[in-house]
Amino acid sequence: MHTIITTSYRTAAEHIMNGEIAAFPTETVYGLGANAFDSNAVKKIFIAKGRPSDNPLIVHVADVDHISSVAASIPNYAEKFIEKLFPGPLTLVLPKNKKISAYVTAGLLSVGVRIPNHSIAKKFLKECSVPVAAPSANISGSPSPTTWQAVKNDLNGKIPCILKGDPSQIGVESTVVDCTGTAPVILRAGGVTLEQLRAIIPATRLQKRQQSIPKSPGMKYRHYSPLAYVFIVSNMTETVPLKSSAYIGLKNIGKNHFGLKKICRTEEEYARSLFHFFRECDKSDIETIYCESVSEDGIGLAIMDRIRKASYQ
Ligand code: TXA
Ligand code: MG
Repeated sequence: MHTIITTSYRTAAEHIMNGEIAAFPTETVYGLGANAFDSNAVKKIFIAKGRPSDNPLIVHVADVDHISSVAASIPNYAEKFIEKLFPGPLTLVLPKNKKISAYVTAGLLSVGVRIPNHSIAKKFLKECSVPVAAPSANISGSPSPTTWQAVKNDLNGKIPCILKGDPSQIGVESTVVDCTGTAPVILRAGGVTLEQLRAIIPATRLQKRQQSIPKSPGMKYRHYSPLAYVFIVSNMTETVPLKSSAYIGLKNIGKNHFGLKKICRTEEEYARSLFHFFRECDKSDIETIYCESVSEDGIGLAIMDRIRKASYQ
């Protein structure tokens, strides 16, 4: 299959309206979209990514008025998140509307809804005129793509269209919040912080790790993994760096001779750079990546979640 790489959101939207799939930029990571009402189109996403069919997709809409075409109802506390945090790096899991394909939700009665805060994504979604189901646009298991080149690297020849944009500003995926119970529960840490959610709804809590039946099916799969081994370290001087090793973190580790090194000025920069760094390491045949641990507040919670998952082999 030939993959068109375009800057035209109209061209990408035509693919969606014609029952095809297309990758598009968002502020978190690039997504791989299909018409959420069209089961055949949605199936193509699972095939292109090699994604297990029991892992549901997030549905993207252009603005708040369209949420009702995806969700059957919205609890009061979710209305508050919508009012204060949409558009943004947040996905709300709500009771599903009948029109949404069961392939999108992997048979669940709930659906994840998100409105990206990204000018090209908004124009593209508006032009599509249907809700767009989209997981991250990577091969299942590999780091999420934060550039169109990363999408091309994984999916060239497997999808018909990539809508080009700038590198993603946030660099980790949206925060997924279950809004089907009496109080909100964070299923996946992401671009919106626990503190931001608690400032709106103080009862917001984190899902306990190690649940036997994951409420968010995606959480049980291996994720975000570069080919290299990932180690989490708090003090880099403890280990002996080699040319085939790499380091990413906040602390400047000075004179060590790593094959690749990324010192981030802020946690936001760490989040933004992480997946791109993993991919650069794989291109440079790095064997071991040391990631500095950060405290689990603010965006640090999402960084630690991603590097922990990347470190499980
Ligand atoms: O930032 C993002 O969220 C990106 C961009 C493209 O929007 N998308 C993304 O999608 O990261 P994906 O498919 O890679 O991750 C979606 C996560 C998975 O862990 C999935 O299990 C969970 O959201 N999820 C989706 N629908 C759900 C539902 N109805 N109930 C529980 N979890 C759900
Ligand atoms: Mg993903």
